[in-house]
Amino acid sequence: MIDIERLDPSSYNPDQTFSISDDQWISVTNNGLSKRVTILIRVCVATGIVVFLISLLVPIFCFNGKSRSTTTTTTTTSTTATTVTTTSTTSTSSTSTSTTSTSTTTTTTTTTVSCAPGYSATPAAKCVDTLSNFYSCGSIAYVCSSNYTICSAGVCKIAPDIQLSKPTAIPEWAGMPIDDSIQQVTLSVNITLYNYSTNIVTVSSNGVLCLSSCSSAYANEDLPTASVGGPTAFGFWDDLKIYSGTAQAVYYGTSGIAPNRITTFEYYTSNYASPINYYHFQIIFYENLPNIVKYVYFEIFDGGASATIGVQQSSSGPSITYSVNQAYAVAYNTTLLFNTNKGTMIRLN
Ligand SMILES: *[C@@H]1O[C@H](CO)[C@@H](O)[C@H](O)[C@H]1NC(C)=O
Ligand SMILES: *[C@@H]1O[C@H](CO)[C@@H](O)[C@H](O)[C@H]1NC(C)=O
Ligand SMILES: *[C@@H]1O[C@H](CO)[C@@H](O)[C@H](O)[C@H]1NC(C)=O
Ligand SMILES: *[C@@H]1O[C@H](CO)[C@@H](O)[C@H](O)[C@H]1NC(C)=O
Repeated sequence: MIDIERLDPSSYNPDQTFSISDDQWISVTNNGLSKRVTILIRVCVATGIVVFLISLLVPIFCFNGKSRSTTTTTTTTSTTATTVTTTSTTSTSSTSTSTTSTSTTTTTTTTTVSCAPGYSATPAAKCVDTLSNFYSCGSIAYVCSSNYTICSAGVCKIAPDIQLSKPTAIPEWAGMPIDDSIQQVTLSVNITLYNYSTNIVTVSSNGVLCLSSCSSAYANEDLPTASVGGPTAFGFWDDLKIYSGTAQAVYYGTSGIAPNRITTFEYYTSNYASPINYYHFQIIFYENLPNIVKYVYFEIFDGGASATIGVQQSSSGPSITYSVNQAYAVAYNTTLLFNTNKGTMIRLN
């Protein structure tokens, strides 16, 4: 370091000449450090820049790596899960006679939604069945135009298609609005549940088929239920309605040749409060597979959120429950098989 005091001419006799050797001069930009120290600092600065750049790049590479693995996860489980980021804002405000304070908390959380079979996650973390969702028909966020009322098998349609090739509508219900009704139907072949065989079936408009005593109750319950007495198929026990002036009905028909005949009941109904919120499904019995009943679902607007699905032998059981008031329980094409002899159930679709 240079001693300023020693160089100050004012502390000398102004007339006196003095000399300062060259190496005592410092340039304005020189900080007075030795050359060696300067080199050391340059090396340190260079090293610092490299470390800084690495510290910036490493997280970027790590993040990219994570992104790639997230993409892979999304791809492998694309029909069942997605990851989205939601932001929620909470504001709190308190006032007293002397002070007013307002606090705002913003929380950002990552939500992962897992969708039930048959459902896909939207970017907004909702689960939709693209085979029957009007607002995601055929693919996520494809909205059917106002010319249509439903999405069926992933295609926008004006109304559901009746699936039975030779459907017979329950004649007593034709042309009338039907709500909370039961009607007896005589079949050309017996159907069997829990070893109970009959060709007389009582159809409830609320999604229930009774092989013995029946009920028109719309309020679904857990199984076994005292609402009905004998062997019963609860294909979709909910508050269903048949609107007049539409093709809505409960259809039935038997196809094939003995001993391999198939008897199908097709409910083409809607919600008690809306004629275009459909509940469309089939209940199928096979002559050569006694004690087995199959349920196949098509357009089920709420996926089973207020329905009971299952079978029971009597008001005190035994019974097999698939779902009770479970949203997303069924999707378009969901197929359930109940074996009332073994007390087992399988889902095929
Ligand atoms: C809806 O139907 C009208 C009348 O048939 C037709 O002109 C229009 O192009 C249709 N719109 C869509 C989006 O299909
Ligand atoms: C419904 O399932 C059946 C098989 O059970 C399949 O042949 C058909 O293609 C499915 N329909 C749709 C629209 O996925
Ligand atoms: C068919 O059902 C009737 C009652 O509806 C019953 O009397 C008859 O025994 C059944 N037939 C067979 C083969 O189980
Ligand atoms: C139905 O009958 C068969 C043959 O008699 C018997 O083995 C089976 O346990 C019965 N199943 C039920 C649910 O009663």
